[in-house]
Amino acid sequence: MDPADKIAPSILSADFARLGEEIHAVEKAGADMIHFDVMDGHFVPNISIGIPVLESVRRMTKLTLDAHLMISEPARYVEAFVKAGANSISVHCEVCPDIPVMAQRIRGLGARASIAINPETDAGRVMPFAEHLDMILVMSVHPGFGGQTFIPAALDKLRYIRRELKRRGLSIDVEIDGGVKLDNIADVKTAGANVFVSGSGIFGKPDYGKIIGEMRDLIARTRPTI
Ligand code: DX5
Ligand code: ZN
Repeated sequence: MDPADKIAPSILSADFARLGEEIHAVEKAGADMIHFDVMDGHFVPNISIGIPVLESVRRMTKLTLDAHLMISEPARYVEAFVKAGANSISVHCEVCPDIPVMAQRIRGLGARASIAINPETDAGRVMPFAEHLDMILVMSVHPGFGGQTFIPAALDKLRYIRRELKRRGLSIDVEIDGGVKLDNIADVKTAGANVFVSGSGIFGKPDYGKIIGEMRDLIARTRPTI
């Protein structure tokens, strides 16, 4: 069975001065989870939010908190992020020398284990370890900033990953992150994604309920080709 579709607004594009209201607004608008982008100014050329903000967000919502760690030394921080309330942790394969050990550690802490793949990184680096994972995150922009343009080569990567997962009888989540908007969300669903991160595509709009509703209609009507 195909895993359920989920829409994950990325709060990187929210108004941080009104973060609680913004989270309640997307929750009311039908978001399935909250995507939480952590940047360390080292793995990526930007700095965003971290553990204290996650703790505050945890108190605001019961939605799944999907922490995307764009940091150079994830092993040092995964425990703190889970303790702060993250339900899912994505660690980049580019800074993860032992994927099964990291996945076991995250699961042992009680969260879902995910590995993220940068646009220039081959998915073959992660697929041998897919059975240890709850999710694979495919970056469709170079990580570091919201509001960038979707890189179309991500579609081939999604197709390869979903085909390979199916071949091996694994139905884990495949998340797409970067430049996902109303005009390409059907394409990424067709290619095999089932978790859709969107930052500027949601928080840049005046009516979150309308945009999330339209995204949900489109993905519900679209069948994956794989
Ligand atoms: C990029 C982040 C993304 C980003 C998505 O480094 O990982 O989650 O916030 O934002 P949009 O949807 O605006 O590309
Ligand atoms: Zn992200």
